[in-house]
Amino acid sequence: METLELTQEEQFQARIDEDIRIEPKDWMPEAYRKTLIRQISQHAHSELVGMLPEGNWITRAPSLKRKSILLAKVQDEAGHGLYLYSAAETLGASRDQMLADLHSGKAKYSSIFNYPTLSWADMGTIGWLVDGAAILNQVPLCRTSYGPYARAMVRVCKEESFHQRQGFEIMQTLCEGATEQKAMAQEALNRWWWPTLMMFGPADADSPNTEQSMKWRIKRFTNDELRQKFVDMMVPQAEFLGLTVPDDKLQWNEAKQGYDFGDVDWAEFWDVVKGNGPCSRERLQARVDAWDQGAWVREAALAHAEKRKQRAA
Ligand code: 3HC
Repeated sequence: METLELTQEEQFQARIDEDIRIEPKDWMPEAYRKTLIRQISQHAHSELVGMLPEGNWITRAPSLKRKSILLAKVQDEAGHGLYLYSAAETLGASRDQMLADLHSGKAKYSSIFNYPTLSWADMGTIGWLVDGAAILNQVPLCRTSYGPYARAMVRVCKEESFHQRQGFEIMQTLCEGATEQKAMAQEALNRWWWPTLMMFGPADADSPNTEQSMKWRIKRFTNDELRQKFVDMMVPQAEFLGLTVPDDKLQWNEAKQGYDFGDVDWAEFWDVVKGNGPCSRERLQARVDAWDQGAWVREAALAHAEKRKQRAA
């Protein structure tokens, strides 16, 4: 009888194929570990930088209720960043190094946060569209193959659902309000629609990481599959609000039971990813300033920990 000896790598893939979660102490291929550190740290950075466009409106929210909701949402994003940095640390990444890479401009973060927030309607549009896109991308990550990442995503997704609903509710209020308010909502949709489609990443044919990440079940859907789902979900919501999606090529395709839509401007996408977005420099500078201004907190925490250690000794 022939004996089947599986290599370590084959055993690893077999576990993935059976949907058995990979945990920090398990053996894993170096490339799997590196891919996860890359994706999770980029995701964490996106959450931190993602606080800035909305943080810009906390002092200008139109009512106390809106202000407290926005404040809570921005604080949630900070929390998401922290869960994600912790998940990346379980793979051996150092938090100081991840943050140094963000501050030096070496690390990537989501392109969407490099666009300006020009009106209150942007708070509605970000919640509705950007958090809507984030949910579509992140609900499948609750089933990603790496345990700590999957578990972190469960709470993140619950909070993202609240973010999306509050955004939709802002849009609905504006669309049911004065003509000027509805125009404000339409103008914000016009600016955010295409950058939101870019959030899902390059087209599958130009995505170097998708094939392997699908095989390892880090990703459960490709970038194009999620982009299609997003368009199919959002167009009826825009119609419900009485808003027009800014795409002349948008058309229902009966055969595929989904919408056909226009081409994303990939030149703009790559330019933003390379750090040339309308607010890229400002965003990075704000994170560097926050880090520098927080030095005294880190020093005080370290001094306190040292004192406790000495007392215990
Ligand atoms: N912005 C910036 N960079 C992007 C990008 C985007 N929208 N989409 C892709 N890229 C980068 C990739 O990181 C990759 O860079 P690298 O290989 O140099 O590290 C390169 O472009 C090629 O893209 P791939 O499709 O090959 O990369 P992935 O397989 O990693 O797919 C992804 C990209 C779909 C974003 C995937 O990494 C992912 O699902 N990440 C987790 C979710 C996430 O990070 N979301 C960001 C938004 S978070 C958010 O929205 C917060 C909320 O509160 C609003």
